Amino acid sequence: MAVDYDPFSEEAMRDPHPIYRELRAEGCPHFVENRRAWALTLYDDLKKASLNAKWLDYNHGQTPAQLMLGEPTPHTFMTMNAPDHRKWRGLLEPFYAAAAVDREVPRLKAIVDTELEALRGRETFDAYHEFANQVMCINAGYNLGVPRAQAIHARNLIDRMILNRVPGQVGASTPDSQQAAGELMGLLAEHVQRMRADPEAGGPHGRVLRDAEVDGKRLTDEDLLFYLFSLLVVGSETTPMAVAGTFYYLAKHPGQKAKVLADHGLLKDAFRETCRYDQPTNMLARRAATDFELNGAHVKQGDNLLFIYASANRDDRRFADPDSYDITRENDGDLSFGIGSHFCLGAYLAQTAASLMLNAVFDAVEDYEVVDEACERAYGEHLNGFIRMAIRPRWK
Ligand code: HEM
Repeated sequence: MAVDYDPFSEEAMRDPHPIYRELRAEGCPHFVENRRAWALTLYDDLKKASLNAKWLDYNHGQTPAQLMLGEPTPHTFMTMNAPDHRKWRGLLEPFYAAAAVDREVPRLKAIVDTELEALRGRETFDAYHEFANQVMCINAGYNLGVPRAQAIHARNLIDRMILNRVPGQVGASTPDSQQAAGELMGLLAEHVQRMRADPEAGGPHGRVLRDAEVDGKRLTDEDLLFYLFSLLVVGSETTPMAVAGTFYYLAKHPGQKAKVLADHGLLKDAFRETCRYDQPTNMLARRAATDFELNGAHVKQGDNLLFIYASANRDDRRFADPDSYDITRENDGDLSFGIGSHFCLGAYLAQTAASLMLNAVFDAVEDYEVVDEACERAYGEHLNGFIRMAIRPRWK
């Protein structure tokens, strides 16, 4: 019997992995009738579809809520098809290349050290909100010319809009998320006006977007607003979740934590394994640009396609013993950062920043524990992982 799956069901939004296991056992993409959506849960299916650009139409949105609930879709390169996608993404790509990110390490490290210094000596702290999320939003703000305090304020508004869901909530529909959205848009619209008035405003990435011409045209104020919003979101959300998860899963596997405490060089592997095991971007979505056949599925043009990265990363056809957390596993192909033309722009930054954050904490402590009752996971169809991670450090 076919599995009963709805990405917006209470069960799937709380902990989707048991359902993903059942869906993978079906051995092919699964059609979710009431959402007119194909759930791609197998590693090979997701990879094949990602690399087949002609099949995919990104124009209608990127998140499940945009495609299936009709939530507004910010117009940025993330929701563009080729050739526009290439042109717009290309403007920012130089900033995210490995060499460019490496040049930013001293600045990033200074942010990490300042934020950790403020926590040093505390009996417990929230490694998500008070540390990793803070570091990433300050960095994303710097890139767009948004000062520290305002970046943190914007980040809190984004959390209220997207992350702080109440159980049973479908989409970002509560009065509080709407109110936060209004406030955030007002704040970013003022920032766009500052960028227009002052050639120096906008930070290194914002200035490039403001001054760019693509096909002879400049970005409108609305375009800039969407870019600021989207880059603040993607630049500060998932990396902290995976950093928080790394603290958590190491604490739950004391043998592996002991190895890492003895050799901080293993933190990179631990972070990467956390991304595989507890993939923060649970799923992203697009539409079928044409009719096609994929592993027995007869996809029709206009059908929604759910790229369920969190499931592909646990596919036992690809990963041995996928439900176990193992920082020593040979991991040369997880789909944590996607694959194909929309591969994560910030993949190298995420890994570099995570490594700096984790190393800073591991350097500062003899050991740490996780305070389970003060941890919380995101609830929803889009993002997975911890959004509160209380740790009790034994400071050096
Ligand atoms: C652990 C951290 C992160 C994970 C797991 C992650 C994961 C992903 C995944 C799976 C995609 C593919 C999206 C798709 O299928 O449409 C993606 C796209 C993207 N990511 Fe990340 N990401 C992370 C951190 C970051 C950071 C720090 C940035 C900073 C700018 C970033 C920027 C982007 C952008 C702009 C895209 C869209 C690329 C495009 O559409 O061309 N990500 N990310």
